[in-house]
Amino acid sequence: MQRTKIAHLLQREEPLADLLIKGWVRTRRDSKTFSFIELNDGSCLKNIQVIAAETLPNYAEDIRRITTGSAVAVRGDLVPSQGGGQRWEVKASQLVLVSLAPDTFPLQKKRHTDEFLRTIAHLRPRTNKYGAAFRLRSELSYAIHRFFRDRGFRYIHTPVITASDCEGAGELFRITTLDLKDVPRNQGKVDTSQDFFGREAYLTVSGQLSAEMFALALGDVYTFGPTFRAENSNTRRHAAEFWMVEPEMAFCDLAGNMALAQDMIQEIIRFVMKDCAEDLELFARFVDKTLMGTLENIASSDFVRLPYTQAIEIIKQAGQRFEYPVEWGTDLQTEHERFLTETHFHAPVIVYDYPRAIKPFYMRVNDDGRTVAAMDVLVPGIGEIVGGSQREERLEVLEARMAETGMRAEPYWWYLDSRRYASVEHSGFGLGFERLLMLTTGISNIRDVIPFPRTPGSIDF
Ligand code: 4AD
Ligand code: MG
Repeated sequence: MQRTKIAHLLQREEPLADLLIKGWVRTRRDSKTFSFIELNDGSCLKNIQVIAAETLPNYAEDIRRITTGSAVAVRGDLVPSQGGGQRWEVKASQLVLVSLAPDTFPLQKKRHTDEFLRTIAHLRPRTNKYGAAFRLRSELSYAIHRFFRDRGFRYIHTPVITASDCEGAGELFRITTLDLKDVPRNQGKVDTSQDFFGREAYLTVSGQLSAEMFALALGDVYTFGPTFRAENSNTRRHAAEFWMVEPEMAFCDLAGNMALAQDMIQEIIRFVMKDCAEDLELFARFVDKTLMGTLENIASSDFVRLPYTQAIEIIKQAGQRFEYPVEWGTDLQTEHERFLTETHFHAPVIVYDYPRAIKPFYMRVNDDGRTVAAMDVLVPGIGEIVGGSQREERLEVLEARMAETGMRAEPYWWYLDSRRYASVEHSGFGLGFERLLMLTTGISNIRDVIPFPRTPGSIDF
């Protein structure tokens, strides 16, 4: 017999006879002649109430022993609930104790701190909050693919193993099959010609360079996959392994790029509000009371467009002390980003045209010569959620930029080729998927939206 999902049962309009459900017991309480079991199978936030009567043959032997966390299988009928609080309940005709959770099971019925739950990341999806967070993670992935497919974008799988440092920030995880106890050397240096690929190799920090090649063939493309950064910063918005969504569009300038970023964030937020309402309500009640207001505000109003030079002026005139002072030429810190979006504009802000000296080689140099056609989308509670740019399509300018940023051009021969052979205007951006999840749930630490987070010094699970 096929098992039915509890989510499916709870949506029914009609009763249902002789069904099978399986799940984990959240609580059990007994009356004289019945046990009431709250059962959850992970398919939705809500539990279903199971009524097990003392007339069941294993009532004394099994049912009265069932503990929180135990796994059970129930056959029975879906009937209108006699008690208040729920529409349906399941009257058990048979209840099998699949597996008893000992009373050392850490998730007893009480609230646990996020810090504690991080130490049991393998069990935390069995709680309401983390179950909801990871269902949302799945739904949001789907919404992203749907958003792009509706607009005719093609999904590209870009390599995880790469030889290039796209962002030029040197935050690369090296990969090697060399014997670290006996590394081959050549004139004192590690001889990487003897390594697996015959040269140095890394985990990718971004799929952008590959995505550009495909945009210049298929038009509008996107990647959505894991990326890696060996940033040794222990903040609540950085992880060493995270997922990035990277659209890339041929024949598109910076304004078109900004429009797509806004559309995407707004459509996804509308999707979550409509299609994930039950899970979202949990976050609005228990995690961030301002969540629904924030989401409605983001979904309904245009994002501010603000040149970097003006952003610096606004921050300097803020009349507020920041840990890091700003001047034209310095990068914005999270505190400045949050000031702009939360305090000054009360809306998402797209800062664009950043100084060329603080941005990677591939961004298009503006006519002023001082700035590049970069854009960052800043949102309340988080700061930067999207980073992108129009790409430098002029070969000579690109080569000069590589030299200026100290890059060797030779390994990028293939990238430069794309500028040699019918180069066209194109643009794209990267959206941090976990930051989008933080935005939509109000969860304030990136470690709590990743199933098994990787951060400096932490790789259990
Ligand atoms: O601004 P970033 O570094 O941009 C790029 O990597 C470009 N190559 C993207 C592109 O144009 N195709 O990163 C993009 C986004 C950031 O805005 C942020 O949301 C997220 O990726 N991000 C991180 N998320 C979690 N942990 C980290 N360590 C992150 N670093 C960046
Ligand atoms: Mg960035």
